[in-house]
Amino acid sequence: MKKRILSLLFVLVFSFVRADEGMWLLYMLGDHVYNEMVKKGLKLTKEQLYSLNKPSIKDAIVIFGGGCTGEIVSREGLVFTNHHCGYSAIAAASTVENNYLRDGFYAKSKAEEIPAPSLSVQFLVRIDDVTKEVEDALKGLSGAERATKLQAISNDIVKRTTDGNNLEARVVPFFRNNQYLLFVYERYRDVRLVGTPPESIGKFGGDTDNWEWPRHTGDFAVFRVYMSKDGKAAAYAPDNVPYIPKYYLNVSTKGVKENDYAMILGYPGSTNRYETSWGVKIKTEIENPAIVNLRDARLKLMFEEMKKSDAVRLQLASSYAAIANYWKFFDGEAKQLMKYDVFGQKKAEEEKFIQWAKGKPEYAQVFAEYEKAYKEWWPYTKQRIYLNEGILGSPLAAYAASWQALETALTRDNPSADEINRVVESLKRTRTIFLQNENKASDQNIIAATSRMFYTDIESAQHPAEFFTRLRTGYGDLGDEQTYKKFAADVFSKTMVFDDAKWEAFMAKPEAAALRDDPAYAYVSAFVKNYNTRFASKFTEFTHRNNDLSRLYLKGVREMNPGKTMYPDANFTMRLSYGNVKSYRPRDAVFYDYVCTMKGVLEKYKPGDYEFDLPKELLEAAKKKDFGPYKDARTNDLVVNFISTNDITGGNSGSPVLNGSGELIGLAFDGNYEALSHKIAFDKDLNRTICVDIRYVLWCIDKLGGAKHIVDELTLK
Ligand code: ARG
Repeated sequence: MKKRILSLLFVLVFSFVRADEGMWLLYMLGDHVYNEMVKKGLKLTKEQLYSLNKPSIKDAIVIFGGGCTGEIVSREGLVFTNHHCGYSAIAAASTVENNYLRDGFYAKSKAEEIPAPSLSVQFLVRIDDVTKEVEDALKGLSGAERATKLQAISNDIVKRTTDGNNLEARVVPFFRNNQYLLFVYERYRDVRLVGTPPESIGKFGGDTDNWEWPRHTGDFAVFRVYMSKDGKAAAYAPDNVPYIPKYYLNVSTKGVKENDYAMILGYPGSTNRYETSWGVKIKTEIENPAIVNLRDARLKLMFEEMKKSDAVRLQLASSYAAIANYWKFFDGEAKQLMKYDVFGQKKAEEEKFIQWAKGKPEYAQVFAEYEKAYKEWWPYTKQRIYLNEGILGSPLAAYAASWQALETALTRDNPSADEINRVVESLKRTRTIFLQNENKASDQNIIAATSRMFYTDIESAQHPAEFFTRLRTGYGDLGDEQTYKKFAADVFSKTMVFDDAKWEAFMAKPEAAALRDDPAYAYVSAFVKNYNTRFASKFTEFTHRNNDLSRLYLKGVREMNPGKTMYPDANFTMRLSYGNVKSYRPRDAVFYDYVCTMKGVLEKYKPGDYEFDLPKELLEAAKKKDFGPYKDARTNDLVVNFISTNDITGGNSGSPVLNGSGELIGLAFDGNYEALSHKIAFDKDLNRTICVDIRYVLWCIDKLGGAKHIVDELTLK
């Protein structure tokens, strides 16, 4: 599961741990959990999993790009991850003539590997507990003061850790700010594309099958990490050499059986297992439906243009996939939260807490205060989402919003020529990137649609009133779709951003009045300023209240349950989750097997379809049952995907699935629909992780890609 880049709140939890629930920090793996793992089938010592002195499995696990996981699988720095994690790099390496996204690609030698400048990988170097230092600095503080001080002390710690070396560091709160750990990383920036299946394999089933089991997707891609000749992390250089890892994973081609041990190490992005009933309510009633509604509109308008040409399709594919992925997630999440009455479950847990907290001054008011905070912010929630997911969902509007830095610089009491220059230079750079990615036709329609949705769906007292008055006077009736279309057309034809001569003339001598007159800037800043002046402080207040209360709530829950084994909520730090390969019953009378095979790929095949087409090499090899050493003896077929009970979430995409001996048996790439409420509530019966079987990966590389040399680089067991 790929991480959503905008992560909201970091939370932590200890929990009454059931079944295979839990994303464990290896750094604090207690005997209780370790013994459970051994009972289930783990054959390794703690030291083999995680050691600061000796090479261990943790050294093979990397943060891949900004929001995924990858693993080192050869002594020459080969990395496996998901196709959807390499997606934007693959799209960026593709052209209409050499369309690797559509046709796939395998480098025949290292010389053919393609640099992916947008990618990097990060290795975890060490973890330090800095709780005492941070808490000493925060003593007695709450709300905004506390947040500011936390930022300052974190910056100090990071600076002291990274001064004079090329490491990176982050201070990360755990258990809702009841503990603070420092994570130190080393980042390698020379990452090259080694191989990818065609999209019809790597994204087979598209958005129809996304977040669903049974699934038949070859969601893998292969990269390589490079280092400088003297063995250091370095920027891309043609004469860099393959990275020599401390540790790399061996691969098992034995295949999986029901109940086999399965363990996943990776970087889950965020969970919120101690969300309150209020949080569940605002999500299901307001937030998720609003996000889904706006994304739905944007996706349709993008898709309309993508259908028209390969060039547009390549241009928008990656952004479309990212929007679509969480469009379906948020829809499913709200539906599952309601189906399982997670609100009711939370209420019951809170009732216990309230009873326990009676007469304890520190905790007695926690839920009364939550109620107050949520009730105050509630009326403005939708407006904020309509700004972020709607108005700013237009790439032009989002880019124009960044010009605000220029307006600020120009309108200071004592404008600084230096500052203005810096902002101008930065806007010139970002314009180039914006123009490369911009599809005007879809974006113009997005502005028309989202401004209209804002007008109709948000109560008028919260509108940027002047903007809509001008719209009515200039373009016509606000109930009429054409009004917004005419307006959007004007924005696109008159803004300076698409007109080099106008743009350069303005940037040579920038003036605030001219900037405010630019129709793209005028449009977006009307909404942004409306939010900033009237609602932003309410949101900040809500966030601080929520953070303070959550910290207290978790502190209280810990006191209430002394000695309970607990795991912290996901926060994009390295975690281990253990479980078993397992079938399930999604609903009455329906049984889902734990593997699926090539037979099912062919059953789903729809020639020429956008999501279910297949490459002809696959069809031919499948017809001949040409599965070679990768064939599964039990099914007498090629196993494509399997499922396990592991507790993972977005960010874990690309994570290695390991057997009890620590050998690679698959790559985790998704969660199932029945457990889409997993960020808030783990369902011990229904939660499954969807994995691509490593034998399918190897078959695609070897038989379809003709790249046996890549398979030969691995250590097969
Ligand atoms: N749901 C997967 C995840 O979050 C992404 C799958 C990508 N495929 C797709 N059809 N969008 O990691």
